[in-house]
Amino acid sequence: MASSGKEKFGGKAAYILALAGSAIGLGNVWRFPYMVGEHGGAAFIIVYVICAFLISLPIFLSEAVIGKTTGLGPYEAMNSLAPKSPWKGLGILAVVSSFIILSFYCVVGGWAVDYLCRSFIGGIGVTTRDGASALFGSVAGSVCEPLVAHAAFLLLTAVIIYLGVQKGIELFSKVSIPLLFVMMVIVTIYSVRLPGAEEGVRYLLKPDFSKIDASAVASALGQSFFSMSLGVGMVLTYTSYSRNANVVEAGAWTAVFDTLFAILAGFAVMPAVFAGGLVPEAGPSLVFEALPYVFGQMAVHTPIFSRIVTILFFMSILLAALSSSISLLETCVNHLMERRNYRRGRATLLFVLLAWALGVLCSLSFGPFGGIRIFGQTIFGFCDLLTSNYLMTLGALAFAIFVGWRMDKLEIQSLTGKFFHFMIKWIVPLAIIAIFVSNLIL
Ligand code: PFF
Repeated sequence: MASSGKEKFGGKAAYILALAGSAIGLGNVWRFPYMVGEHGGAAFIIVYVICAFLISLPIFLSEAVIGKTTGLGPYEAMNSLAPKSPWKGLGILAVVSSFIILSFYCVVGGWAVDYLCRSFIGGIGVTTRDGASALFGSVAGSVCEPLVAHAAFLLLTAVIIYLGVQKGIELFSKVSIPLLFVMMVIVTIYSVRLPGAEEGVRYLLKPDFSKIDASAVASALGQSFFSMSLGVGMVLTYTSYSRNANVVEAGAWTAVFDTLFAILAGFAVMPAVFAGGLVPEAGPSLVFEALPYVFGQMAVHTPIFSRIVTILFFMSILLAALSSSISLLETCVNHLMERRNYRRGRATLLFVLLAWALGVLCSLSFGPFGGIRIFGQTIFGFCDLLTSNYLMTLGALAFAIFVGWRMDKLEIQSLTGKFFHFMIKWIVPLAIIAIFVSNLIL
């Protein structure tokens, strides 16, 4: 399909905020803070920032130049740049990866809906750790409640996408991203002032360079891919809606916003975890068990304040999750609109139904389907592992190789500069392969 009649972002700010919205998500809140503590505090933050700017940013640029030069989504873009070649497979890989991530991501988004509703209606009301675990068990592990919440989250995602690029994605990002930062700042101020919070601050900040080994670097890189939403054609799709944009500037802003928000979330989450005498763990329990417990305890002394902070916290998780899920759905919807000439409403409906079906299986894998294992993982765990550890890395590697080796050198250099062209062509593929192999060996 020709790209001329395509929807567009209203301007540079809208494009950058939409990219930042995709980048800022659950990954920043539940994985980054934990990884920082695990892998040497401030030392890890330094490694993370280096990876974000030296490896992830060039990958971002690889996707962005494809979107910018073609004005098309991943599949049609590869089809037009390398017709009748296996490179089309990369377009399919991107759409399939986006779809799988969307499906399991919406399950967690549903939990955020559930906790937010609870904090509005009467408060979450857990004051013991067992109470917090039991609550999470029922929110995630029962049948009806998580499925209703999951459907609600998916519906919100669908409505924004149905409204289109400007009235949906752009408007939502312009409102939600500033709000998200303000809310997280308030929660952070509350969190670092809790009694016993200093240990959590130390956990995040104490630099321990002895913990920086190959596995720490691999974790930093993996986290930064997931966090900047790379390798799934999202950056490519959004850039096809903003072809005049300066991609280096957009990529740098995305990395800055994403890293700042991750660090902010770290200071919102970890001090509270330590103040509650808990041990940090990666994954849902960090956000959905530890924090309700800590805020619940504080409610004994400052009920109103603790209630407001709980609402703000889950509201920011919900907004962060939504601004990411819309980018995943848009990548899929755009594909059908380009490939099959579907109208936006029809394409949205189709993908929402498919994502709902896979999401139901993922959701039930915390309850009745918990016994079903794929390579030793639950359905949810398998979808997460497959995409985060393999498909995104493969996609990122392939985009970099395509741009570095197949596209016109001078054209790419004029868009990214010589330094980033060199990084895309040599350093990114070598770094990804080295880390992938070392991970396999380890
Ligand atoms: N960047 C999101 C996060 O950190 O939660 C996850 C994500 C969103 C990955 C969109 C990929 C994507 F296309």
